[in-house]
Amino acid sequence: MALSFLLTVLCLPPLAFGLGQTPTISFTQGAIQLAGGNSLTTLFLGSNEFPGVQRAGGDLSADFGRVTGKNLTINTGDFSASDTSPSSGPVIIVGTIGKCKLIDSLVAAGKIDVSKISGQWESFQSQIVANPMPGLSSALVIAGSDKRGTIYGIYDVSEQIGVSPWYWFADVATTQQSQIYALDIVKTQGPPSVKYRGIFLNDEQPALTNWVKEKYGGVGYVSGFYVRVFELLLRLRANYLWPTMWDSMFNLDDTKNPQLADSYGIVMGTSHTEPLMRSTKEQQKYVSGSWDWSTNKAKVISFLTDGAKRAKPYESLFTMGMRGSGDTGSSTLTADSLSDVIKSQQSILSSVISNNLSSIPQMWCLYKEVGGYYQKGMTVPNEITLLWSDDNNGNMQRLPISSELSRSSGAGVYYHFDYVGDPRNYKWINTISLEKTWEQMHLTYERGARQIWIVNVGDLKPLEVPISHFLDMAYDMTLYQSPTSTQTWLSQWATREFGSGVSAAAASIMDRYGMYANRRKYELLDQSIYSIVNYNEADTVLNQWQVLVSDAQAVYNSLSPAAQPSFFEMVLHPSKAGYILHQLYIATAKNALYAGQQRVSAATQGDLAVTAYAQDSALSTTYHKLLGGKWNHMMDQTHIGYTSWQQPSANSMPTLKWPAPSTKGQPGVAVDGGSSTHSLPSMNPYGPRSRWIDIYSTSNSSSTFTVSSDAWVILTPSSGTLKAPGDATDQRVQVSIDWTNAPAGSSTSQIAVVAGTTSVTVSLPLQNVNVPSDFAGFVESDMTISIEPEHYTSVTSSATASYGIIPGYGRTLSGVTLFPVATSTQTAPDSPKLTYNIYVFTATTASITIHLAPSLNTDSSRPLTYAISIDNDAPTKAQYVPITQLGTLPSTWSESVKNAGAKYITKHAVTAGPHVLNLWALEPGVVFQKIVIDLGGVRTSYLGPPESMRVGSGFNDA
Ligand SMILES: *[C@@H]1O[C@H](CO)[C@@H](O)[C@H](O)[C@H]1NC(C)=O
Ligand SMILES: *[C@@H]1O[C@H](CO)[C@@H](O)[C@H](O)[C@H]1NC(C)=O
Ligand SMILES: *[C@@H]1O[C@H](CO)[C@@H](O)[C@H](O)[C@H]1NC(C)=O
Repeated sequence: MALSFLLTVLCLPPLAFGLGQTPTISFTQGAIQLAGGNSLTTLFLGSNEFPGVQRAGGDLSADFGRVTGKNLTINTGDFSASDTSPSSGPVIIVGTIGKCKLIDSLVAAGKIDVSKISGQWESFQSQIVANPMPGLSSALVIAGSDKRGTIYGIYDVSEQIGVSPWYWFADVATTQQSQIYALDIVKTQGPPSVKYRGIFLNDEQPALTNWVKEKYGGVGYVSGFYVRVFELLLRLRANYLWPTMWDSMFNLDDTKNPQLADSYGIVMGTSHTEPLMRSTKEQQKYVSGSWDWSTNKAKVISFLTDGAKRAKPYESLFTMGMRGSGDTGSSTLTADSLSDVIKSQQSILSSVISNNLSSIPQMWCLYKEVGGYYQKGMTVPNEITLLWSDDNNGNMQRLPISSELSRSSGAGVYYHFDYVGDPRNYKWINTISLEKTWEQMHLTYERGARQIWIVNVGDLKPLEVPISHFLDMAYDMTLYQSPTSTQTWLSQWATREFGSGVSAAAASIMDRYGMYANRRKYELLDQSIYSIVNYNEADTVLNQWQVLVSDAQAVYNSLSPAAQPSFFEMVLHPSKAGYILHQLYIATAKNALYAGQQRVSAATQGDLAVTAYAQDSALSTTYHKLLGGKWNHMMDQTHIGYTSWQQPSANSMPTLKWPAPSTKGQPGVAVDGGSSTHSLPSMNPYGPRSRWIDIYSTSNSSSTFTVSSDAWVILTPSSGTLKAPGDATDQRVQVSIDWTNAPAGSSTSQIAVVAGTTSVTVSLPLQNVNVPSDFAGFVESDMTISIEPEHYTSVTSSATASYGIIPGYGRTLSGVTLFPVATSTQTAPDSPKLTYNIYVFTATTASITIHLAPSLNTDSSRPLTYAISIDNDAPTKAQYVPITQLGTLPSTWSESVKNAGAKYITKHAVTAGPHVLNLWALEPGVVFQKIVIDLGGVRTSYLGPPESMRVGSGFNDA
């Protein structure tokens, strides 16, 4: 009985489309039929309601229209629970406690109990109420604790019936439903995990600005644009916005902007560099004299006072403090003068807004150099939230320390999914690893920065997925406590946007995409990154992208025409764009190498690069033509041809070489590993199964080749023809070994390559060795052992800390880190430890490189440190991120950010035979990404050697 009940429940189609939240809606059954019954559903919205609630109610009505073809009927009569209902049902009653007579009278009559949400920030309760009014047998009642609580309650239904928050901004299709039901459950939601949750539209030229110009009549960032953003934010359960500011003035470009923001329910702010609600452009245009506290204080005060006066009627979160002109550091401000700035700003707020400063939301962003003033001992008034910043690349620079946790206005973070600046801009398309965002925001939340989360989202559009993820975590972090929560989120996201039929495939694509794109920002990619001679690295990476695109194309092809545009925008386009860029640079790298070898096929690679370059631009055109040009200009951003941190003015083709084939040149030979003396990397039974030898034409004449060696050296093919000109000008010969017949121990096989009149001897060192049959672990090959940290042999934990795996984290497989992240400093050797059995053939001093997350020291008294040892040696401590003053980045930072990972090397003597590598994370926040043991053979590559072979059993294999 129990089992069949369970199966029935599991086999029901997913209730509805809400992402992560408790369902209150079903398409198959429920307590009240809201669509598909005999009568149309009426929405009761009291006349006294907030305009923002009235407006969102209109959206709910229209959302029913989008899904069922029939809008809700809205009745704004000011009823009480004792009045006879003007409708006998179905009815949805929506209202804010204290603002809606019907809700208040239902509470008074004991028909709903709102004690869990009453007085709470942005909370709501949704339930079925029997006999709410005479003449009405039941209704779905959604009561909000405040304006936005009610609005989120409304959009909670919209999302569940199938209207994605991205229905307009990412064209997510609505699935038509013939029936919609309200479930008989009481849902209590809120308050949100983070109080102020928002985005910063920034770096908005060229894409967003050109688009806005075209769509909104060339008059700038007007309210027609902003109301779309406000609605999107509310549907995403956000509440806070920093408007565009490169060349715009939110409050002046369209005077309806601030009034509409407030009436929608959006809390306006300004960026970290724009105090008291006045934009940078206003600073430049309207301060009489210069924007300088030391020389022009009175005029600056009067300018700021006007900002406070203008903002007074609206809900605002005031940026405090000051920087130099136009988002730069100031040359004249000191910690003392900055204290004076803040004191003056607070006195403006008390005289203009309220003398109760605690009632005025304020924040001070410790961005870049500003942190330096704080470090010098500035005291910041308790009413001001400290807004900690990342390093512009997603690594938090600082989080609250214990002495700051009692501040009444708490702490927040300013985070980046887009950036303009050193070491390089990234503002073209999505490059975000959601797992990394989760890891840093989870840390942020657990470390107590919960007042404000704001993220720089560039042009908004190509970052739909990371924006959703960030705001969902900010709304309800309780759902995202597990290191596997990102995969869960992705599958729920994919279900909501594209349907359950393709959700597993779409989630897997985006999970892989995030890893591939995060390995190196597109703007930092060039022909020098992935190795084309070692570990087949470039081809492996390119193949991963190709599989990604073919998976994405298959899902795209399976979708209805209505669902294809959104899938293109969020999944297929970035996958293709990333693939094309990798094709471009890898073909360019091969072109250069081959040209140096006089290979005829240098031209083939040149042609591939030219094609990829053209495809890049064609793909942008496809994006721009989508849906009749709806998103024209959104891909205007240049992204090929960077030479400094700043974007190039136009894309430019990397330099290609076109060697002219001679008539007489004889074939050439190149080997795996790139040795100029034709020595292949050594092989043993525990390394890659094959190596390769390239035989290639350097002229237009055809030639035949043969390769031969010892009987145990298998050469495929062992003979053939290089056709030239033509498409078979190169031949790759795979070299593998029949180990049962190879000589025991060390030997060197010579491989004779004869092609035309060319005769080359390739040498191949062999070690026909075996590990003892009772050994289980990683085995050396080519004087290298490479390990994915999640494949540990054993792990220990303590009462207060244990290791967890973050799947999809980092550059190759996953990350391993300590949980809970609020745990104390650990002490090797007794603290939780990871061990890896390894088998070494080469006695030497090994260099062990640990690849780690590029994270920074968020508490300088507890710098990120790990410990490492071999066998029973004393642990060596490795503090791999230097401690710096707040506002200054460590010397290792630039390389770590570019490479999406830090590296640190320790040296350890090892003898031949089995050993145990011990690894300890000594602080939470240390995330292991890869372990590379160099016994003398590690070759140049970007991602490090592929993982070594494991023999035996007993590893963790998640
Ligand atoms: C539903 O309401 C929206 C917004 O008011 C309106 O544009 C649309 O035409 C209505 N649809 C129907 C089917 O009445
Ligand atoms: C000042 O405002 C805070 C926050 O709104 C409130 O808790 C406090 O009671 C107010 N103080 C006075 C004296 O009104
Ligand atoms: C080699 O072949 C190409 C393609 O057929 C041709 O364009 C080129 O002129 C030839 N070069 C020589 C030296 O014969």
